[in-house]
Amino acid sequence: MSELNNIALKILKDGKGILAADESTATMTKRLDSVNVVSTPENRLLFREILFSSSSMTKCIGGVILYDETIKQETSKKNKIPELISEMGSAPGIKVDTGAKILAGSPDEKITEGLDGLRERLKEYYQLGAKFTKWRGVYTISKNYPSKLSVQSNAHALARYSALVQECNMVPIVEPEVLMDGEHSAKECYEKTSEVIKKCFEELILHKVDLKGIILKPNMILAGNKSKDKISNDDVAKLTLKCLENSVPSEVPGIAFLSGGQSELEATENLNLINKHNKTNFIMSYSYGRALQQSALKFWSKDTKNVEGTQKIFNHRAKMNTLAAQGNWSKNLEI
Ligand code: 13P
Repeated sequence: MSELNNIALKILKDGKGILAADESTATMTKRLDSVNVVSTPENRLLFREILFSSSSMTKCIGGVILYDETIKQETSKKNKIPELISEMGSAPGIKVDTGAKILAGSPDEKITEGLDGLRERLKEYYQLGAKFTKWRGVYTISKNYPSKLSVQSNAHALARYSALVQECNMVPIVEPEVLMDGEHSAKECYEKTSEVIKKCFEELILHKVDLKGIILKPNMILAGNKSKDKISNDDVAKLTLKCLENSVPSEVPGIAFLSGGQSELEATENLNLINKHNKTNFIMSYSYGRALQQSALKFWSKDTKNVEGTQKIFNHRAKMNTLAAQGNWSKNLEI
């Protein structure tokens, strides 16, 4: 088994999932503003250190995606953040794209940037202890979108990124996110997501990326958040599985969903149903940002010294999602 395949499997084994704590400073500022906490490097670290030293880091969280600022910070005990994460039994990872910018030629859409100088930055992150990386492409659905140009150019960037990351002995998370925003039906989400993922794999193969050494981070198949189309959780699970079965090559060891604006409970419930219905060999787990942190952040913002209380809430969410990643969650386990 290859070293990269081992890393991917270790991150996602036994229902473990990924904590996406890689919000850029701008995004983290929005999150902190929403709970009336001032966004300083110290406050951003304070909240994140509480999460990274929680007991669920050992039992449930196989990997943590960090942002550039955080991977270089030290804890209150003068530990490096990646060291803290490794000591807790989890793997440190790093977001390496530099954000989604306007796509020239189709200015209503986005292209993710960050390839220039990436090889050098990867070497630095590897030295800092990163075992895996993340790059997110974003796609919107509307009458004419995503355009061929956006599907093609984001897939190309994801593949070039992945090849560079594997060259540097880390596991690339390949994240093509078809956004939930809009009026589209679940059927349209299914069609567009299938097209996007198929194109990603076409490019990954062209760039000679070892598919056994990646983790795919897709969206679930949902109706748009302004859609009239209503779809049951069971149908979300079934459509998501059908889409992935038909578009992901069997060599890929693991799939870790993003939460994408679903509530904490929805994200857990849908993941649980996906695993109940899953007949594929893919591990189906989570790589959640908001759906792991929302309640903990809200609680912490009211009393930033209450470490134990904040960790209790985070541990609960992590445990619920780890149960869901094994199809063993049920609503009565929620508090
Ligand atoms: P959400 O789970 O909040 O969508 O974040 C996951 C992520 O990493 C988006 O890039």
